[in-house]
Amino acid sequence: MPGIRGPAEYSQEPHRHPSLKVNAKEPFNAEPPRSALVSSYVTPVDLFYKRNHGPIPIVDHLDSSYSVTLTGLIQNPRKLFIKDIRSLPKYNVTATLQCAGNRRTAMSKVRNVRGVGWDVSAIGNAVWGGAKLADVLELVGIANLTGSTDLGGRHVEFVSVDRCKEENGAPYKASIPLSQATNPEADVLLAYEMNGETLNRDHGFPLRVVVPGVIGARSVKWLDSINVIAEECQGFFMQKDYNMFPPSVNWDNIDWSSRRPQMDFPVQSAICSVEDVQMVKPGKVSIKGYAVSGGGRGIERVDISLDGGKNWVEASRTQKPEMHYISEHNSSDKWAWVLFEATIDVSQTTEVIAKAVDSAANVQPENVESVWNLRGVLNTSWHRVLLRLGHSNL
Ligand code: MTE
Repeated sequence: MPGIRGPAEYSQEPHRHPSLKVNAKEPFNAEPPRSALVSSYVTPVDLFYKRNHGPIPIVDHLDSSYSVTLTGLIQNPRKLFIKDIRSLPKYNVTATLQCAGNRRTAMSKVRNVRGVGWDVSAIGNAVWGGAKLADVLELVGIANLTGSTDLGGRHVEFVSVDRCKEENGAPYKASIPLSQATNPEADVLLAYEMNGETLNRDHGFPLRVVVPGVIGARSVKWLDSINVIAEECQGFFMQKDYNMFPPSVNWDNIDWSSRRPQMDFPVQSAICSVEDVQMVKPGKVSIKGYAVSGGGRGIERVDISLDGGKNWVEASRTQKPEMHYISEHNSSDKWAWVLFEATIDVSQTTEVIAKAVDSAANVQPENVESVWNLRGVLNTSWHRVLLRLGHSNL
């Protein structure tokens, strides 16, 4: 074992922030209150959502004994120690990580779905520090922008050490295409820092993958090995989970092999400054939230409606304070969310709707029914919150 091990039970879990809303205890999965998401562009580490499929791994010795194995369909397999990875150029990439199950609870209100119930906070934006996977693969002789190795490798698989019941006690694993892994512009990182601090245990210490613009499930934590393989990873979380099925598919007629593993996440937004069904005083109410799209696409617009979608006003969008956000501009963080804000006037009970449009003009779907699926993934329907008139501090 490379200096890290996955325990079989939950007696050595790390300490977590008391304000996290726990959605499942063993394994521990939790999200922050939604208001915490819009208080800063970069989400503080302890308030960042935590999504784990097994007990959190333990590093027994100093992390200098930790190594990751690079192997598979390559000429020169080798072991990399953390010092080897740290000696490569370091990049800080601001990227939003979003679980495919974000907003699942709302989807489960249409019809029952299987999965951890998340509100709107299974998402966070962090500055990930580490080496580019493209540089790491160069160390074993795979040049940038390679689609296939001489030995027939076309995918890069990441294997962890945590023990997941879905894998019958074997570790979590996932893969991405080799062409993405070797593309420096795709910014895929082997990250050892989060927001300028050493990665903590919950988020993958000592080393995790961060695949920007792609559902969180592919950003494997607690790396043990990196394998160059011919076909995409055959693990449970690639083949039997985190796939998007149409509303007609149920547990009796499901054919997992009919769908490919979900990679990029679609355009998404959510209102975070107010809860659904919140009392407000008549007058001005500030509506704030996040919007994000996958694949590096920027956010072109966020629209707000107070009349069920007949009329819309445009919200303002920001990333870094004091800087005007322009989608797809080189001053913007292409992998990161934008925070939006609009001030509305409320004089009666009102449903507030947010919908985002990305730089490819992809729009969030109006109804959750049209994207309902049995695993409750990728609920990107228009986000709605009901404001009732009454006594409130807002
Ligand atoms: N990696 C390992 N080894 N084990 C896991 O359970 N969960 C995945 C991914 N990487 C997971 C993992 C999922 S489903 C998500 S959404 C993200 O990690 C969550 O990352 P976070 O807990 O750092 O927010």
